[in-house]
This record gives sequence, structure tokens and C-alpha cells, in this order.
Amino acid sequence: MERTLVFLKPDAVRRRLLGRIIARFEDKGFNILGMKMLALDEQYVREHYGAHEGKEFYEPLVRYVTSGPVVAMVLEGKSAVRVVRDMMGQTFGSDSPPGTIRGDMALSNRFNLVHGSDSPRAAREEIERFFDAEELCTYPAEATRWIYDQSGDEIV
Ligand code: RTP
Ligand code: MG
Repeated sequence: MERTLVFLKPDAVRRRLLGRIIARFEDKGFNILGMKMLALDEQYVREHYGAHEGKEFYEPLVRYVTSGPVVAMVLEGKSAVRVVRDMMGQTFGSDSPPGTIRGDMALSNRFNLVHGSDSPRAAREEIERFFDAEELCTYPAEATRWIYDQSGDEIV
């Protein structure tokens, strides 16, 4: 099963939307393997969004993501990276279709509530960056046998 790193951005904390966003990931069938609230280090945020360095929105983006605590979590499930990105919607809230997190709860081009790793490789790096191995829990997820068909050789 694939893992991905999600963090709920400072606007999600301040708008008290944490529970409703986390509930969507639980409802979809993901297992939550780790979760914590933390203030992101500015240097880390600069590296994390390094691909955008020099763009006009880079400095405001750094200020936004360091403006308060975030809630980071590791989600596990089938095609977790892509499915979480699909659930987030488009980057801009105003472009995001209804039914997505940003489409249902965001209008801004910057305050867009949620980050999700954009590739399996980024997911591995981000999970390692955010969580020590002992902070990730594996536990019997009883519901899983009703989320996937596990009766054959493959999990479908
Ligand atoms: P994220 O990295 O946070 O998961 O979001 P994303 O992949 O959907 O968007 P990305 O293109 O990586 O941009 C990172 C964050 O920068 C802000 N942004 N502002 N034109 C703009 O003003 C602009 N474009 C992007 C957003 O907060 C976006 O999530
Ligand atoms: Mg991105």
C-alpha cells in the first residue's frame, strides 16, 4: 500500500476545518499512520517550495505557511499520492471543482487549506522529513477488509 504526506495549512487550523478535512480522508478509506501539530521551520518551507523560488508568490507563500501551526499526517492506501491530490482539487480554490476539499472550502489562490505530496518519491522524502520512524504506527485496521476486496491474491 502506498503512503503520502499531507499537511493541513494554517488557514485550516484557524478556520477550524481540521476535523472535516480529516474526516474526508477517513471516509475515503485511508489509514492514518501518524499525525501531529507543529510550526514549520521557515528554512524547511523555503526548501519544500524551492521549485517556486523567484516567482512572485514565493515570499507570500512562505509567510502563509509559516504563519501558524499546521497538522501533518501520513496516510496509507491504494494509490494514496494520486487519490489525495485528486481529493484536494486544483491549486486555486476558485478553480477547484465541487466535491474536492479546495472546491468545497476554499476560494483563494493561496490560502488553499491542504498540501499533499505530488509524487511517490516526494512522499517518501516528506514522510522522512516530518516523522521519525517510531512516530508512525501500524495497527490492525479492521475496516480495511471492507474497504478493499482481499479475498484473492491481490487487494482490489
Ligand atoms: P501544495 O504544493 O501546497 O500541495 O499545492 P499545489 O501543489 O496545488 O500548488 P503548487 O503549484 O505547488 O504551489 C504551492 C502553493 O503556492 C501557492 N500558490 N500561489 N499564483 C499564485 O499566487 C500561487 N500559485 C501557487 C498556493 O498556496 C499553493 O498551494
Ligand atoms: Mg505543490
